[in-house]
Amino acid sequence: MGRETFYITTPIYYPSDKLHIGHTYCTVAADAMARYKRMRGYDVMFLTGTDEHGMKIEESAKAAGVTPKEFVDEIVCGDGGVIELWKLMNISYDRFIRTTDDYHVEAVQKIFRTLYEKGDIYKSVYKGLYCTPCESFWTESQLVDGNCPDCGRKVANAEEEAYFFRQSKYADKIAELISDYLEPSTRVNEMVNNFLKPGLEDICVSRTSFKWGIPVDFDIDHVVYVWVDALSNYITALGYGNEKYNDYDKYWPCDVHFVGKEIVRLHSILWQAMLMALELPLPKKVYGHGWLLFDGDKMSKSKGNVKDPYLRAERYGVDALRFFILREFTFGTDGNFTDELFLTRINSDLANDLGNLVSRTVAMVDKYFGGTLPTEHQSAPEDDELIALAGTLHESYEAHMEKYAFQNALAEIFKVTSRANKYIDETTPWVLAKDDSNNPRLAAVLYNLLETIRICTVLLTPFMPESCDKIFTQIGATDSIASYNSATSYGELSKSVTVSKGEIIFPRLDIAKELEALAE
Ligand code: MSP
Repeated sequence: MGRETFYITTPIYYPSDKLHIGHTYCTVAADAMARYKRMRGYDVMFLTGTDEHGMKIEESAKAAGVTPKEFVDEIVCGDGGVIELWKLMNISYDRFIRTTDDYHVEAVQKIFRTLYEKGDIYKSVYKGLYCTPCESFWTESQLVDGNCPDCGRKVANAEEEAYFFRQSKYADKIAELISDYLEPSTRVNEMVNNFLKPGLEDICVSRTSFKWGIPVDFDIDHVVYVWVDALSNYITALGYGNEKYNDYDKYWPCDVHFVGKEIVRLHSILWQAMLMALELPLPKKVYGHGWLLFDGDKMSKSKGNVKDPYLRAERYGVDALRFFILREFTFGTDGNFTDELFLTRINSDLANDLGNLVSRTVAMVDKYFGGTLPTEHQSAPEDDELIALAGTLHESYEAHMEKYAFQNALAEIFKVTSRANKYIDETTPWVLAKDDSNNPRLAAVLYNLLETIRICTVLLTPFMPESCDKIFTQIGATDSIASYNSATSYGELSKSVTVSKGEIIFPRLDIAKELEALAE
């Protein structure tokens, strides 16, 4: 039998502009989850990509004086583009889909035709209120203060002949199932109260007002609504409706779609209805995460409050940035990103706590034993608490990771590193080192520190893969004892382990100076 599979997706991003730290948030979270599952032996499919059609892109390309395809190619594949950003952020995706890829286009046309032939898509005339930036039609009752409920911008009257998807037909089934697949539960309430209770309407799924989209192949004046095109990516990327891939049976239904809160509606209602209409299994989970806010507002180019991930990753290390966004904020709710918080977190957790623990421990093994511990170790009751904490850390860690509570999983690890630092103060190795007869005791103390570091580092690997490799090298942990299973049992490191002193992995920052530099 094959290994258990785990299929995780991020939203596919609009290449209408360069991506920012807000987009990085979800992708880093999905990457940490994918790495965690791989470490646990799963056969993982981690999908991300770009959502390249739609009026907004057509307009941006026109303004830039290039074709839409040239425009998206530059943002996706060009310097500082999406693919480079994911490389910089060390994103271990298994597949990258672009909705302009031929196989996807062909599959979306098939999906649209299938739904039409089935009667779930039909032709009619649309009269409604349209939000151009969101490319969504709204009814009067859905508006918030007269504006688009998603982005808060103005809507305008619009009318066109169009195809409609019979979303209403699946309303009852969605209402029945939504609390099974949508998390966190607060998002379920939002969907039920704002959309399901007022009654689901059929949704307009074709456009004639612009050209940059997938043509409806049996009525070429129409292009497929960008959300029907985009949502389909989760199955076309596996080979559904095309010959390019052959992984649909293996990975579908997906284990989790990570999506930002403003697109929960499309993933928990429209996407589910489309799958029901196609008679396909539903995703096991849709997880709606919060936004990274800046000064209490959503980060966006138009608001001019964008934080550049390149600058921060280059200056402080990719791992520091990856770590910070998952350590500081609760994944399910909004969090306010400030550089001060970022730098403070680097200093407190990475430099003072973990970094200091590693460098002190390695330095002591080096100084007192020439880098290699003697085999004779003498334990003492004061070791028990640390050993118990490190030995069972994986249990609470797993429980949080399985619930996508990254901040809690990380907090558990840092409780143990703090405890280990305290253990150094309690056991005072520098006093033990004064008398050779204490060597077995000193060796046991240093061993417990190395072993605690090793376990914490294994569990930190999904978050900070490169830094964890450096720590493993310094503490003398080879590959097999850096594996996930090895983190579930205490005492895997050889008693006569050899460490190698290296660079300071997380240097301490002068926060005031750094804030000034970033402001420039
Ligand atoms: N193209 C659609 C998604 C289609 S998925 C089938 C889209 N693209 S987007 O580029 O506008 O947004 C992609 C994701 O980035 C969304 O989940 C959105 O919530 C997320 N973020 C954009 N800015 C964000 C923050 N400031 N904070 C956290 N996530 C944010 O929507």
